[in-house]
Amino acid sequence: MSQVKVQLGEAMGTSLITLYGKALDARMSPSVLGDEMAAQAIDKIDYDFTKLGMTPKLAPNAAVRTKHFDNWTREFLATHDEATVVHLGAGLDPRVWRVDPAADVDWYDVDYPDVLDVRAKIFPERQHYRMIGCSVTDPDWLAQVPADRPTLIVAEGLTMYLRPQQGHELFRRIVERFPHGTITFDTHNRLAVRLVNKNLTRLFGAPLLHWAIEDPRELEAVDARLRCTDVVSTLLSPSAAALPKATRIFAKLMRHIRALRDMSLCVRYEFGTADRA
Ligand SMILES: C[S@@+](CC[C@H](N)C(=O)[O-])C[C@H]1O[C@@H](n2cnc3c(N)ncnc32)[C@H](O)[C@@H]1O
Repeated sequence: MSQVKVQLGEAMGTSLITLYGKALDARMSPSVLGDEMAAQAIDKIDYDFTKLGMTPKLAPNAAVRTKHFDNWTREFLATHDEATVVHLGAGLDPRVWRVDPAADVDWYDVDYPDVLDVRAKIFPERQHYRMIGCSVTDPDWLAQVPADRPTLIVAEGLTMYLRPQQGHELFRRIVERFPHGTITFDTHNRLAVRLVNKNLTRLFGAPLLHWAIEDPRELEAVDARLRCTDVVSTLLSPSAAALPKATRIFAKLMRHIRALRDMSLCVRYEFGTADRA
């Protein structure tokens, strides 16, 4: 079978980085995420992944973040039989297959059309699953997702690519459209944005991250319907138990230094009330 060719635009490139991270992690023993589908997917793409700055050392840390969002997704679905999941900035992440929701769950992946085009070539179709090709800052995607059920929004590796204003508008549109649900996303602080932008500038010629968040609870001020329920430093999350001992010791030490502890935070917000759903 011939391999899928990719044009390394900025969006395409960042989704290849996280896909490759999952593939590297899958080949390790023990693996944090065990995402065999990601490992198989990179063999279908004609690209030299070693250029992306993702290494076997970094891959398990990235996998921990993903595992944490998988667990929050499973938690939401365990308490909502009929639900909608919207994965914003889904890129080439096979989350819907890892979580494998029941037939009562409708799942939407939103990302740029060129990214979803590659996605459609490397992953199979499935029932109750749809892709929506547009920017998350374009209000059109919301109208394509029914608003009649509890809704989980997962946005892993996305907020930092938006401008703060775009992020605020996105959050407002979500709580306006969906009566009741949960938003999960991760944030980078200023230090993380600076460090990651160094690698992105080397790869793409420009810094792509625009939104550093020092305290994710501040987003409650964006709309009165938003309630922050969880903020967890990624490498201190329960999913980090799968990391090598040296990394866990480093993570424990860094929890005393706020700038390091808050470089990558997993955040959960609730909005609306169940009786409005
Ligand atoms: C770092 S990748 C993360 C992909 C995936 N969530 C994961 O964790 O593997 C960032 C993704 O966000 C997408 N993205 C960034 N800005 C976006 C926007 N304004 N609208 C839609 N997708 C966007 C990119 O195309 C890319 O797929």
